[in-house]
Amino acid sequence: MENKFEKIKKLKEEKDAIILAHYYTEPEVQKIADYVGDSYFLSEKARQVKEKVIVMCGVSFMGESVKLLNKDKIVLLPDMSADCPMAHMATVEKIKEMREKYEDLAVVCYMNSTAELKAHSDVCVTSANALKIAERLPNKNIFFIPDQHLARYIATKLLEKNFIFNEGWCPIHNELTKEELLKAKEKYPNAKVAIHPECPIETVELGDYVGSTSGIIKYVTESDAEEFIICTEDGVLYELQEKNPNKKFYLPKEKFQCVGMKKITLNKIINSLETLEPQVHLRDEIITEANKPLENMLEMAK
Ligand code: 13P
Ligand code: SF4
Repeated sequence: MENKFEKIKKLKEEKDAIILAHYYTEPEVQKIADYVGDSYFLSEKARQVKEKVIVMCGVSFMGESVKLLNKDKIVLLPDMSADCPMAHMATVEKIKEMREKYEDLAVVCYMNSTAELKAHSDVCVTSANALKIAERLPNKNIFFIPDQHLARYIATKLLEKNFIFNEGWCPIHNELTKEELLKAKEKYPNAKVAIHPECPIETVELGDYVGSTSGIIKYVTESDAEEFIICTEDGVLYELQEKNPNKKFYLPKEKFQCVGMKKITLNKIINSLETLEPQVHLRDEIITEANKPLENMLEMAK
């Protein structure tokens, strides 16, 4: 592995490249990355980088978002098949239908969505800022795509708004059942529950803390508790253990893994730096239109 690390470091210099990685990627990918973070952090970072080449270690909507914010740079996604199924779980037709139905409508698009869906939306959000942004919108009617669970969670906090839910879900977080979580709580009675809002609302309600991946890491790191049940993808355990070597972490289910995120490997990073492929390409009209809600998010989340 050390050799691969050295090789990547050399290639990065040669190609003037920087590596961004999400917390759900494999530990060795997080180790070699220049910046690791949640979706919001990565989009902010992507806007600031100076290098000509950006390697995005994550799923395709993340590569697209980096490209939207850096249309003149080379954006590499080491495995083009690394995808987030939820990113496709909404349609432009449905957005149009809702816009016709409600005069005062804001289409709020979770970052986990294709660039095409973003292009038809008013503002993007991530799990780290969705509540803040929805609260700041002047509109009463909010069509939240694609994730119904994050939408339902925010709706419980903003009773003055009318949320229209979309039938989308994350195939990983959606699988966590209330029974599984209750069982884990029974097994580890002293553990605090930190949960991602992509989980179903009846599990989120059992959380001591609800938030994005970096929110979970911050909560755990600042907490005096010693044990935690972590209700999100197991990649976050790497950073949690690095920052909190004396705390104990439990997953509420055996396999809490995102197939797409785990497709990114050191060999694929090496290959994409050597060949400068596969690159993320987006049509100019999509870049122009989808960039607007993304920039709106970055502005409104400040
Ligand atoms: P974060 O916004 O917390 O990074 O989550 C991204 C994601 O894909 C969750 O499934
Ligand atoms: Fe998509 Fe779920 Fe994977 Fe996040 S964990 S990238 S929402 S499939």
